[in-house]
Amino acid sequence: MKRNFNLLCLLGLSLGVAGQSLAQVKKFTVKANEVGAAVQPTMWGVFFEDINMGADGGIYAELVKNRSFEFNKPLMGWTVQGNKNEGDLLILNRQELKASNPRFLRVKVDNRRKGDLGIQNEGFRGMGIKQGLRYDFSVMYRQANAGVKMHLELIDSKGNVIGSTVFTPTQSGPEWKKQAISFNATATEPKAKFNIWFEGNGTVDLDMISLFPSDTWKNRPGGLRGDMVQLLADMKPGFIRFPGGCIVEGSDLSLRYQWKKTVGPVEDRELIINRWNFEFAHRPAPDYYQTFGLGFFEYFQLAEDIGAEPLPILNCGMACQFNTAEVVPVDELGPYIQDALDLIEFANGDVNSKWGKLRASMGHPKPFNLKMMGIGNENWGPQYLERLKLFTKAIKEKYPDIKLVNSSGTDPNGERFDYLNGELRKMGADFIDEHYYRRPEWFLENASRYDNYPRNGSKVFAGEYAAQSDKTVSVDNKNNVKTAISEAAFLTGLERNADVVHMASYAPLFAHIDGWQWTPDMIWVDNLRSYGTPNYHVQKLYSLNKGTNVVPILLNGQKVTGQDGLYASAVVDKKTNELILKVVNTTDKETEGAFSLEGGNRLQSKGTLTVLGASDTEKVNTLDKPFDVSPKTEPISVKQQGITAKLAPNSLNVIKVKML
Ligand code: AHR
Repeated sequence: MKRNFNLLCLLGLSLGVAGQSLAQVKKFTVKANEVGAAVQPTMWGVFFEDINMGADGGIYAELVKNRSFEFNKPLMGWTVQGNKNEGDLLILNRQELKASNPRFLRVKVDNRRKGDLGIQNEGFRGMGIKQGLRYDFSVMYRQANAGVKMHLELIDSKGNVIGSTVFTPTQSGPEWKKQAISFNATATEPKAKFNIWFEGNGTVDLDMISLFPSDTWKNRPGGLRGDMVQLLADMKPGFIRFPGGCIVEGSDLSLRYQWKKTVGPVEDRELIINRWNFEFAHRPAPDYYQTFGLGFFEYFQLAEDIGAEPLPILNCGMACQFNTAEVVPVDELGPYIQDALDLIEFANGDVNSKWGKLRASMGHPKPFNLKMMGIGNENWGPQYLERLKLFTKAIKEKYPDIKLVNSSGTDPNGERFDYLNGELRKMGADFIDEHYYRRPEWFLENASRYDNYPRNGSKVFAGEYAAQSDKTVSVDNKNNVKTAISEAAFLTGLERNADVVHMASYAPLFAHIDGWQWTPDMIWVDNLRSYGTPNYHVQKLYSLNKGTNVVPILLNGQKVTGQDGLYASAVVDKKTNELILKVVNTTDKETEGAFSLEGGNRLQSKGTLTVLGASDTEKVNTLDKPFDVSPKTEPISVKQQGITAKLAPNSLNVIKVKML
């Protein structure tokens, strides 16, 4: 009896599967001849914020933490080695002479040998060191007479030396000098430390003690981590928004981002505490500062390198409204507005203009061709509008071609949003920045959000989106397949409405595995490695397949906005004469899609199908398994001008075929 029952079950199952697959052929029609809205070249971009050790300890490749002794605790990140007599190591403060970088270290070396007295830097949760690679050390120093030698050593986690050299400050006198030396590492180590042992006799003043790997992006000295920039470049982003995020606002106005303090020589850039240092009591990061080695010049340069339009966001005279909510009186807003005007001159101005000259002196006489900027990050209320209007008037008067991004607050709905959205549209805002940190279900339900938006007037910048597997600011949020696929479904709605939505970016961008405050994040790194999450691959697939114009794709004559768990959008690329379909299956069942063309266009006989997804919705990528969830491409045939494709469970499918 039991045996018969099992047999019946098996039969039932196989009949069910066969019946199911027949019932599940979905017939899509694509009208490639109805060429619709242009997809903006800016459509898919990236949002950079120095959160989660994104800049210092992340993409900014400096290995020495607190190189200028300006952290609140001047020796944070450093430990003294050997035997120190009272007064051997002193922190001096020349506040009156150099307010931007007042402190330095004075070392008295009194008949010392190697191993007697030294300092050690711990790096940002250690230093990532690669065997055979050249490391570039530099320091600013001052000494009355030469007489001190410095033994430089990289050590691994067991204390073995994995790279060393001897540095001798050669020049004497009252002026500060900068001197450099390079050496190679003999082993790979993710958590190295850096020793400086003093030898000889004399007193030496030290500042800006720096160590960089030589394999930075484009091998620029003092530059950015090559692997992290490469992940961005691979996305071919249409824009890069910087520098945030809440760090634009600051928890109070003294901690707002001030771009003028981030340009010029690095030793003159005044660091501040990073607001993410103390924002979350459950994720404290007492050593998190903004040294601005990655400053506005470097952001513009990065944008240019990766072919993205720069989109700087400026403080609008308001600190974070979740924190102090300080505002600048409107009659004192002048310097803030001037910062915005001067930034345009810094980016685009003639080399003879004040700020254009500074740009040229930093190595970029050609303009950066800035076309847009944001005023305010997540600001809201009438106090925001009051200030925004003053910025807008001044900027548009002087630079009518610059487009402005305005904030719609923190949420994509609710009273704050409705008020701002209404008012900004009345003001004729160029772009309204919408932020969505919501559960995956919200992303599915909102795939048709823009179908009924006004077609004229302000355009949407989907400036910060990320599906939250748990809830906003929960430490349990995961970058898993479920969140990525829900975002993929939502993005069909952005693409379908490319006449309304002109830009979109996931947020936050980077997170260091040992130094994060906020999750989920698009790209995760440790000191040596980095990987893209499934969410990264979704945004990248959209970006690499953006096409030039939207065309209709229908399921049973309707837009595909969730019927049977399916979502779809289609574009043509007029430059390459390709048809590109994006179809998202959000169910846990495989579905067969039959795609036919209506309207007379003809397709070549072969194309490609790229699939991203997994049956297990909890699946994630990790540093050890960085490509577990990544796109796979296979050839696909066109038969009688139709395509059939198996749409895997929980998958984004990109079908690409040349048109004849
Ligand atoms: O992306 C993390 C934070 O989320 C950003 O700083 C802010 O704009 C938003 O609240």
